[in-house]
Amino acid sequence: MAHLSKNGLSTAAGAAALGFVAGMFVVPARKLAHQGLETVISKNDWFGILKLEHAAVNTLFEQLLATDETQTKKRTALLLAIKQGLTKHALQEEDVVYPALREAGIEADTKELYAEHADIKTYLHELETKPKDDPQWLERVRAFHTLIQHHVRDEEDEIYPRFQSQLSQEQNAALTKRMNVEGFLLA
Ligand SMILES: [Fe+2]
Ligand SMILES: [Fe+2]
Repeated sequence: MAHLSKNGLSTAAGAAALGFVAGMFVVPARKLAHQGLETVISKNDWFGILKLEHAAVNTLFEQLLATDETQTKKRTALLLAIKQGLTKHALQEEDVVYPALREAGIEADTKELYAEHADIKTYLHELETKPKDDPQWLERVRAFHTLIQHHVRDEEDEIYPRFQSQLSQEQNAALTKRMNVEGFLLA
């Protein structure tokens, strides 16, 4: 897998976060941001790409958690950016990476991952429909963020590194290519 410097990771993550926000208004800007990301990671590194997307969404959550009840428009915009980022990310995982995990016999883990993605969609629906100035709104964002952090830790610390090391360079390259094609549908 590619090794990124701390600075490289945070810069790329910031660029990705900006890409998600910019993408709400100008689609080509978001596509350019994705092309930029591809230059800092190995072509075979599907795991590195997913990690950058995790970091970008985490940055958006931090911005959302820093809002107050008067900033309803900012809350709506940040929640939409989080939804855009998570939707592309989930498509790549649910349609390409998780099935590949299943084929490799890691079925118990993938069932839990799919179930957590379903919980993520439920949180998104709740936060979209609940008034943004509701006193409980930010607490629900915090619970949502905690669920995502737990899910990301499982992927990044256990499941993905184990799976990536099981695959040959060619298999990692093929998986990365399939994942990028899938993600481009929503890029
Ligand atoms: Fe996931
Ligand atoms: Fe993920």
